[in-house]
Amino acid sequence: MNVIGLMSGTSADGIDAALVEIKGHGPSIAVRLLACTSAPYPRKLQTQILHTCDSGTGPEVCDLNVMLGERFAKAASKLIRLSGLTERDIHLIGSHGQTLYHHPRAPHRSTLQIGEPSIIAERTGITTVADFRPRDMAAGGEGAPLTPYAHQILFQHRTRSRLIVNLGGICNVTYIPFETKKRTIAAFDVGPGNMMINNAMIFMTNGKAFQDTSGATAARGRVDGALLASLLKHPFLKRRPPKSTGREEFGDTYVRRLMREAKQRRMRNEDFLATVTAFTAQTASASQRFLNGQVDEVILAGGGTRNRTLVKEFRTAFFPTPVNTAEAYEWNSKAIEAVAFAILAYQTFHETPNNLPSVTGARHAVVMGKIIPGRSFRGRIS
Ligand SMILES: Nc1ncnc2c1ncn2[C@@H]1O[C@H](COP(=O)(O)OP(=O)(O)O)[C@@H](O)[C@H]1O
Ligand SMILES: [Mg+2]
Repeated sequence: MNVIGLMSGTSADGIDAALVEIKGHGPSIAVRLLACTSAPYPRKLQTQILHTCDSGTGPEVCDLNVMLGERFAKAASKLIRLSGLTERDIHLIGSHGQTLYHHPRAPHRSTLQIGEPSIIAERTGITTVADFRPRDMAAGGEGAPLTPYAHQILFQHRTRSRLIVNLGGICNVTYIPFETKKRTIAAFDVGPGNMMINNAMIFMTNGKAFQDTSGATAARGRVDGALLASLLKHPFLKRRPPKSTGREEFGDTYVRRLMREAKQRRMRNEDFLATVTAFTAQTASASQRFLNGQVDEVILAGGGTRNRTLVKEFRTAFFPTPVNTAEAYEWNSKAIEAVAFAILAYQTFHETPNNLPSVTGARHAVVMGKIIPGRSFRGRIS
């Protein structure tokens, strides 16, 4: 099957889209990347999404669901054009959507991903699978993380234990021991990914820049040992997994306070940024103590791989363990999460369970996702 995966993460920077060819059934499917692209959100839309996450009203959520549905459909069409194929050549779309809210432990376990999949199916004519998380939560799970299921399919190795590090807004890791029969996969959030770096840039430039492109600014600074040591005392780092984090802990309020303190100590902006960049890599490295085995190699994915200073800090933090981006494994770093939702959708379509209960805490394996039939569903043309 030719399957498209669509993903927009916590950074709300845009939609990542990937087209893969998938063969086989069950956990040993073969996946090949055919094309990938990104459809960045305009700054105004990004701001609207982040506002709606924090304090959106019912009508605002409702409107945004439709607006993002159109954007996801357009991202799929853009990818199809780019790949030289037509809608008829694509069998399935898996769309994660945009998370507005995720509260796995509130009295009412709840989660909401928007970007109306009915619109994606209607505009493209392609059967679309979406809304993966609620089923895992209904089965007692946290509904997250979901991508480790795909990481295992893509990166499991016979003799080497691998740590997949996704550098989105938040940094999450998936540990895939080589002998998964004896030791289970572990996956959890370790701390900030690009979130602190992005916020620091926004404050430093009064909103003109919203990321440290290529890590150029941090490269001009020097890591402040005292600040780094105090950051590494953050209580989230000590918490045992399963654990997840977000804007509440490492978002703008936290960064604003740290920057104010740094200013009082007359720290230069670029030194602050260099320190935050080092901190991000160090949190990931510190998380190794929660793993039930050693790491033989580290594979970096997500937008943060485009920050060269961050990648350099990862090499320092994990030394002597080799650290490489997914490109070294012939994958596109920015596409991995989108590929994951293509894989999850493929399994949904074939009624194959696609959560990892050992990771999400669900009571049992379930088939996650809701299916919106396209024009040709299971071979029948409508
Ligand atoms: N060229 C670049 N240089 C530095 N950082 C980048 C670059 N491109 C993307 N990023 C970082 O990656 C983030 C987006 O990564 P992504 O994997 O899409 O995260 P998320 O899943 O949170 O949306 C951006 O917010 C930015 O911080
Ligand atoms: Mg993104």
